[in-house]
Amino acid sequence: MVVREQDTGGWPAATDGGRVLLSPPDIGPLEESYLLNALRSGWVAPVGPDVDAFEQEVAARVGREHAVALASGTAGLHLALVALGTLPGDVVVVPTLTFVATANAAVYAGAEPVFVDCTPETGNLDPDLLDRTLDELRRAGRRVAAVLPVDMFGSCADYARILPLCAAAGVPVVEDAAEALGAVRNGRPAGSFGRAAVLSFNGNKIITTSGGGMLVSDDADLVARCRYLATQARQPVIHYEHTDTGYNYRLSNLLAALGRAQLRRLDGMLARRRAHRERYAKLFAATPGVRLLADHDAGANCWLTSIVVDPEHAGWRADDLARHLAVRKVETRPVWKPMHLQPVFSGAHAVLSGAAERLFADGLTLPSGSGMTEHQADRVAGAIADFLDRR
Ligand SMILES: Cc1ncc(COP(=O)(O)O)c(C=O)c1O
Repeated sequence: MVVREQDTGGWPAATDGGRVLLSPPDIGPLEESYLLNALRSGWVAPVGPDVDAFEQEVAARVGREHAVALASGTAGLHLALVALGTLPGDVVVVPTLTFVATANAAVYAGAEPVFVDCTPETGNLDPDLLDRTLDELRRAGRRVAAVLPVDMFGSCADYARILPLCAAAGVPVVEDAAEALGAVRNGRPAGSFGRAAVLSFNGNKIITTSGGGMLVSDDADLVARCRYLATQARQPVIHYEHTDTGYNYRLSNLLAALGRAQLRRLDGMLARRRAHRERYAKLFAATPGVRLLADHDAGANCWLTSIVVDPEHAGWRADDLARHLAVRKVETRPVWKPMHLQPVFSGAHAVLSGAAERLFADGLTLPSGSGMTEHQADRVAGAIADFLDRR
């Protein structure tokens, strides 16, 4: 099958019994052609020319020298911490408002996650609280192995403040850019901040390999170490010699091929997600007490658009809209439940302002997928307009 350069549209978005989903995969003939070519090449293994090319293409896109393609973003975060020399008893600073993978990576590495609250405008790590936390940890004599800022829903964290704070404390930064491919902050792409950054290509992400991730960095030794650890820590001899405990974390060549096709379509997909956000912004513009999360951030990749509802001013709660849309087969979700509220992290140290808890209570994430058809977008907008009219 031959697919022309300009033939980059996806097939209709996956639906679940007619439901409009938050962010389903956006896959089409270009992906089919790349995948089939990889299959027919015989490189059906976690190594091959598509893996190499995908690494180079993603590294170039995010302005990094080196990359290693991995089975997941979670694997990338784990490897980054191991390669940075995280030891049992160390602390890893994690935003409390994130997906659990960020915090789990710290636990896998034997470290203690310490959670820090976010700024209410963006949901990203609060630099003032980070400063306070690093100071407290230093006074308590704790070694901080890394800080893992998250680019929440594709809006980059405030690296202009975070990086100097961490540099002054002598703590490496690993950017959790799992949600942020294509975002920009101060003229720099997501993935370019910190000692290393990690991207995710899970099924719901801006581009997908069905499951996959990548660690990117300008530090050749760090990336070589991660590559080695991701490949069962095999010494370069024929008889399988191991001096370290490694992991089986590499990305399949077939999935790398899928990722290469998706990367070719990235700009078009970003534009569609941005168009959804702009439509939501217009829909809620005249509604008191409602704002978009990170609405000031023109460089966000618009991976997911969330509204934040102030019930006092709006006269209704985010939950009310969620229930209204669920009946009309429109998927929504709260923003992440903060890590310090998760039973698995009960008792963990957390430095809090209350911002993450408020976003969890008042935030609602709306369908944002690049494959959402005009018809589906109209359905969602109509259902929201109907809800607002009845208030
Ligand atoms: C903020 C964040 N970090 C890490 C991950 C983990 O990525 P993966 O699912 O590829 O392991 C995700 C998404 O799944 C995420 O949203």
